[in-house]
Parts: sequence; structure tokens; C-alpha cells
Amino acid sequence: MFSIFNKKKKPRLDLSGLVADMHSHLLPGIDDGSPDTETSLELINGLQDLGYRKFITTPHILWDMYKNDATTIGAAYQELQQAAQQQNNSNVPVTAAAEYFLDEHFDELLENNVPLLTIHKNWVLVEFSFVTTPINFKDKLFNMQMKGYQPVLAHPERYLYFMSDRKWYDELKDAGCYFQLNILSLAGYYGKASQQLAHYLIGKQYVNLLGTDCHHFRHLETLRNAHNIMEPVMGLLDSGQLLNPTL
Ligand SMILES: [Fe+2]
Repeated sequence: MFSIFNKKKKPRLDLSGLVADMHSHLLPGIDDGSPDTETSLELINGLQDLGYRKFITTPHILWDMYKNDATTIGAAYQELQQAAQQQNNSNVPVTAAAEYFLDEHFDELLENNVPLLTIHKNWVLVEFSFVTTPINFKDKLFNMQMKGYQPVLAHPERYLYFMSDRKWYDELKDAGCYFQLNILSLAGYYGKASQQLAHYLIGKQYVNLLGTDCHHFRHLETLRNAHNIMEPVMGLLDSGQLLNPTL
């Protein structure tokens, strides 16, 4: 007999072992992530349903497009917390840092000793262009270290110009850079090449952190249905090399 109750339900994706997500765009209205507080709270709720307990959200600081600093990020953070209180939701375990694009503005911040927003201790999340190989990126990372910061490179698997030049990964690792993989790369969300590079970096034991890089509902929905990511995620957790649970 046909019954809707006989329908096999896929088990819910359980990312609780990761505890913390340290890369997302969940603050309202200041970059290409969540446009308003309602969306922010829904996205956070959806990610909590997947097991995350803590969010270190990281709005873009990319001077040609998103002129963010501690003031704009602090204001958006306050707006989110106030919206949560209005909903009697005191359970919004979010802190705010940033994702720095390595542009000239970033060089100026370092030169002028402007304190950078850190995701944890002295760790600073940085990203490169997706299109062109960054100029002097090793010097820039070295300058960060000289100022006392630990560089965390966001989604190294998404810089496809490294595909045929993978020695750069070795060099960045030798220079002491942490690598943060986008969890959706494992699901193939950004294409086959990024998925391949993600597995390559896992194989090299180069991955220190996993992040959702969640910008919008499409990311959340893809993550919800990405059952093929569980095996590599559990493998990384079992290896003890993932730092997410320590955040
Ligand atoms: Fe990002």
C-alpha cells in the first residue's frame, strides 16, 4: 500500500563535529552576502540545524567594491544582534572578523599598523583574485607575518591558476600559511576543477580549516543536500589536523 510514511528520508547532514564555522558572509548589507537581518537570522538558523554551534563571520574588505572596516562591520554586527533580541532570540553565537583581499589597501593597513580583524588569536583570513595570479603574494604574506599575524588563505582550491602550477601550494605551506577549504568545494559546487584541487589538498594534508563561505540560501540549500561531503569531512576530523573544533 502506498503511504507517504514509507518514503525513505535521507538523514540530515550532521556537521556538529566541526563545531565552528570561520568563513561566512552573514552580516546584513555590507558585502555580497546577506542583504538584511531577516536573511542573516534565517541563514544562521539553517546552519545551526546542520550542527554548527559557533560562527566567526567574515565580511569582505576589498577596497574597489566593499570599503569595510572595524566601524562598518561593528555597526552591521550590532544591527544583527538587535534584530535577534527583537525576536527574543538570544542564541545567535556570532562574532565578526573579516576576509581581506590582498590589494593595495591591505598593504596600507599593514604599513600603518592598523589592527587587523582576526578570526582567532592572531589569525587573519585573506583571499586572492580568482582570475589572475596575485603579484608578490609571498611578500604580502611575509609582511603579515612580520607584523605578527598568522595568514589563513581562504579557499586555495578555488584559484584555478594554481591547477597547473601546484608548487605554489608547497611554497605557501613552507612559508607557514594555513589553508581554509570551502566545504562546498567538496560537493562540486564550484566545478570539477575546484573539487579535484580540494581533494588534492586534503591528500597532501594541507587543510587546516573548513569554512562554509555561506553568502545566501543557495549555498545553504546545496550544503543541506551535499551528502557526499561527509566522508572527506569525517576523514579530516579523524585525522586531528582540522582546527575548527578549537575555535
Ligand atoms: Fe568569502
